[in-house]
Amino acid sequence: MNLRGMKDILPSEQRYWDFIFNRVQQFARDYGFQRIETPILEAASLFTRSVGTETDIISKEMYAFVDQGGEKVALRPEGTAGVTRSYIEHGMLNQPQPVKLFYYGPMFRHDRPQAGRQRQFWQYGFEIIGEQNAVMDAQLITMSYKFYAELGLAIQIEINSVGCQQCRPGYLKVLTGYLKNIKKDLCEACQVRLLKNPLRVLDCSEKGCQDLMVGAPQILDHLCNECKDHFVLVLEYLDELEVKYNLNAKIVRGLDYYTKTAWEIFELGRDGQQEALGGGGRYDSLVQQLGGRATPAVGFACGIERAIARFKTNDIAVSPVYAPQLYIAQLGLEARKKCLRLYETLLRKGYTVAESFSKSSLKDQLELANKLGVKYSLIIGQKEMVDGTVLIRDMESGNQEVVDFNKIQDYMAKLLSAEVRNGRVDD
Ligand code: HAM
Repeated sequence: MNLRGMKDILPSEQRYWDFIFNRVQQFARDYGFQRIETPILEAASLFTRSVGTETDIISKEMYAFVDQGGEKVALRPEGTAGVTRSYIEHGMLNQPQPVKLFYYGPMFRHDRPQAGRQRQFWQYGFEIIGEQNAVMDAQLITMSYKFYAELGLAIQIEINSVGCQQCRPGYLKVLTGYLKNIKKDLCEACQVRLLKNPLRVLDCSEKGCQDLMVGAPQILDHLCNECKDHFVLVLEYLDELEVKYNLNAKIVRGLDYYTKTAWEIFELGRDGQQEALGGGGRYDSLVQQLGGRATPAVGFACGIERAIARFKTNDIAVSPVYAPQLYIAQLGLEARKKCLRLYETLLRKGYTVAESFSKSSLKDQLELANKLGVKYSLIIGQKEMVDGTVLIRDMESGNQEVVDFNKIQDYMAKLLSAEVRNGRVDD
């Protein structure tokens, strides 16, 4: 048995993963992001210093341990900290700014596994480091929206501003005052949050706390002018791009590094907390906090398993990863040898070809060809060996044609290009 909260990604699922990776790469090309991959294992202190010791992700969920060299390390719970470390470590500050990076890979949180929540899960993420302009926030929000909305999902962006080091302390004072007055009515966890991380009381999932938060002071009323202007601009850009959003004071995010804009991506009607498809925000202090020069940044990340679950329930069409055009079937040792060579030739020419050379029964081979949904099978048996021909079988109609072995490549090229013209074969 595998560990709780860890899942195998089986061959039958791969087409969804390929679909998402391809789409992420397409978005990266369109919007000018470069790929970065940082190690899965980092110094644990990287995450405590960035995500924050009082967050659930660090205090309860981090896979941290001391390695053989006595170093305290951790499996990354998210991608932003590693990317920021790398930006500093590799002097990316000296490149033209902003630096736009994307990544995808597994993340680890020792949370209670349930639908949509795993201990190993995958994220893809986009980060823009080195630019404070609100247009960056709006572009990233648009990307996160388009990624799903263009596929037909009804997407809602829930957006908020969490202020900055100037205005947030004032707001936290007011909020803490409000929470202290209702402390006895808060759930147990929120009574602790009130002391350690009062913002998180705002997004508590307990019904009782949610009701009490309706009257809570709102951060938007306490933003400094800079944060307010920034937020208004982000919203104006989103209006311009016709991205639907909802102002939501509960979006405070579960990581400490955020400043100003914060957003989450939901499918409409599924805004339970563990159902966020993704989330992001500005983190203008993080580079400096991790030892770099003060550098603004903004980014988002999305959970890939959650996206796949939504694709499935919404019947989003995803083409199979392996859809061979041709199948080669053989009968007899000499035919098998000839087919082995033909197979290599066709692969070199760029065809996707399936085979089962270890099988001897023609019936078994053609059954497999049918299962794979192949349009044409190329068959060489004893008769074809003697005649120097190949039997081409249209797997749909069952029609067969005898073609001279030496002309097979021209023949297949014509046959398949006609298929493409008729829109029957994916190019
Ligand atoms: P996050 O909101 O913690 O943000 O995670 C982003 C997304 O990862 C979530 O919306 C969800 O889809 C997925 N996710 C998180 N935890 C789990 C889990 N246990 N099981 C399955 N999926 C999960 C971040 O991680 C930030 N680094 C995002 C960011 C990038 N902010 C700025 N740049």
